[in-house]
Amino acid sequence: MAVRPTVIWPDPRLREPTVAVTTVDDSVRELYRDLCDSMYAENGLGMAAPQIGDHRKMFIVEPKLAGRPETDLPVCLMNPEVLWTSDEVQDSEEGCLSFPDIYIKVKRPMRCRVRAMGLDGQLFEIEGEALMARCLLHENDHLTGKLLVDFVGPLKRQMIKKKLQKVKDAESEAEAEA
Ligand code: NI
Repeated sequence: MAVRPTVIWPDPRLREPTVAVTTVDDSVRELYRDLCDSMYAENGLGMAAPQIGDHRKMFIVEPKLAGRPETDLPVCLMNPEVLWTSDEVQDSEEGCLSFPDIYIKVKRPMRCRVRAMGLDGQLFEIEGEALMARCLLHENDHLTGKLLVDFVGPLKRQMIKKKLQKVKDAESEAEAEA
């Protein structure tokens, strides 16, 4: 088990360009396992590679949300491509492991279809509705460097920055005392 520390905004690694995965080798499988361990450690519904400091195009989605048995492994999407989004939209609060305790109202399509490469190296398509669509599009945004704060104005962005800086300061203080 390898839980890697979650990269918290405004860490510049969240904005770095990502690279496509060409072959599924041991290092890709290791990234997948670390991503799963890290997501479960934080009780996330999804997580993208840049959030654990890796710039390969991979994200995962929690199996139950993806409509699979709870005991399944998380769904792995590499080199994802959004094929279709509905005109119908949803507007609800969205969180992100890179923005602890921050929730922002984000308007997203109600449904979407994504094509990606799976761990078997084969392309597959997956559809999502409501929260699943939101999760697919949110994680896909991570791979293009788009983040929650891009949906708010400069004032709110500044507030979020201050709040996360406080969290960071408290953490480093606790570390220094330990
Ligand atoms: Ni996120």
